[in-house]
Amino acid sequence: VKILFLDQTGQLGGAELSLLDLAGFYHDRCLVALFSDGPFYQALQQRQIPAKVLRCRSLTTSKDSGLIAGLVGLYNLLPLVRQVLRLSRDFDVIYANTPKALMVGAMVSLMSHKPLVYHLRDIISPAHFSWVNCRLLIGLTNAMARLVIANSQATRQAFIQAGGKASIAHTVYNGFAVDRRQITPADRQRQRQELNLEQKFVVGHFSRLSPWKGQDILIAAIAHCPIDVVIMLVGDALFGEDEYVRQLHQQVAQLGLIDRVQFLGFRDDIPALMSACDLVAHTSTAPEPFGRVIVEAMLCETAVVGAAAGGVMELIEHKRTGWLTPPGDVAALTAVISQAQATPIVTARIAQQAHQYAAAHFQLLPIQQQIDALIASTSSPNHELTTTLCI
Ligand code: UDP
Ligand code: GLC
Repeated sequence: VKILFLDQTGQLGGAELSLLDLAGFYHDRCLVALFSDGPFYQALQQRQIPAKVLRCRSLTTSKDSGLIAGLVGLYNLLPLVRQVLRLSRDFDVIYANTPKALMVGAMVSLMSHKPLVYHLRDIISPAHFSWVNCRLLIGLTNAMARLVIANSQATRQAFIQAGGKASIAHTVYNGFAVDRRQITPADRQRQRQELNLEQKFVVGHFSRLSPWKGQDILIAAIAHCPIDVVIMLVGDALFGEDEYVRQLHQQVAQLGLIDRVQFLGFRDDIPALMSACDLVAHTSTAPEPFGRVIVEAMLCETAVVGAAAGGVMELIEHKRTGWLTPPGDVAALTAVISQAQATPIVTARIAQQAHQYAAAHFQLLPIQQQIDALIASTSSPNHELTTTLCI
């Protein structure tokens, strides 16, 4: 099967990092077409995965746009539809990795009669999308997609609850190249020295800087922790959240935490940095669809605390493979950080259990094979029957 992957952004978010692995599985049997240029394109080139940046007007519609903006947005996608239609001649399946890619892919699938697969990585609900965008996404998916791959049960449930067809929707978690994450204790020590973190209890936050990722909750929490508790914030504003970044710096200054919070920007050495932390915090204030950072922390054997909503509930078993705190609850997060610091033996045991669990459940290859079997079934005449049997 030859696959035409579509993605709306050139930035390296979790959806793109996951696609990078998946497209690597197909290599010459795929093309990744992007609606804008950026580091994602460079990362694909580095891995010698066929990729192309399409020409288009800037895509201004946001997840919360209303009816008029939504229609204008669809109209603006038409030049992309023409280009993707031309490309689609050489491929068997169109694979949309993001909502705008779904919109383009649905129109192309209608014209080309090629099967459409939608990798649903968003929780379609009012917390994340406007009413108009929810209706548009569900309507197009139901009408055109042969297969929906949801990145968690929570994502699949939200899709069905919003009116999506249950029969086409399958849950497949992100897979990870487990062996690449082995970091030695010496590496860890060197990393801590370089960042001036020796003798500190280091809490890491690994996420793009965006209001719903809740970096402000973690900053507020450490203001109540002992002064040797420090934070490293790893990630950048990828989608124009400059105002939020300004607010974070202001919050750090106002709380007198300048010496205890490091902003490291976007990094591509996540396993090394995670291994240098004593605890990884996930603090999303809206339900996280999956949460790659949680599995990555587990694979690095660093203890993790996650915000109890969405896919995170499927990843962490409270007090066995990590901790869960209610989203936005500063006091609960403070309590977990203090407890993790005060009881290092328990923290290490939790991290170890999490490592075992993640290594057993999130291996890249079997997950890619599962997706491949689902995709193959979309081209077979009895595709609904086949996909049911394969899960
Ligand atoms: N990440 C990265 N560099 C950074 C910050 C984050 O490579 O500076 C990666 C992180 O390791 C994870 C992804 O970005 O793989 C974020 O994925 P997640 O599912 O946690 O959240 P998303 O941003 O997709 O909503
Ligand atoms: C999206 C979601 C994130 C998920 C990632 C990979 O970016 O926001 O929760 O982990 O996709 O599927």
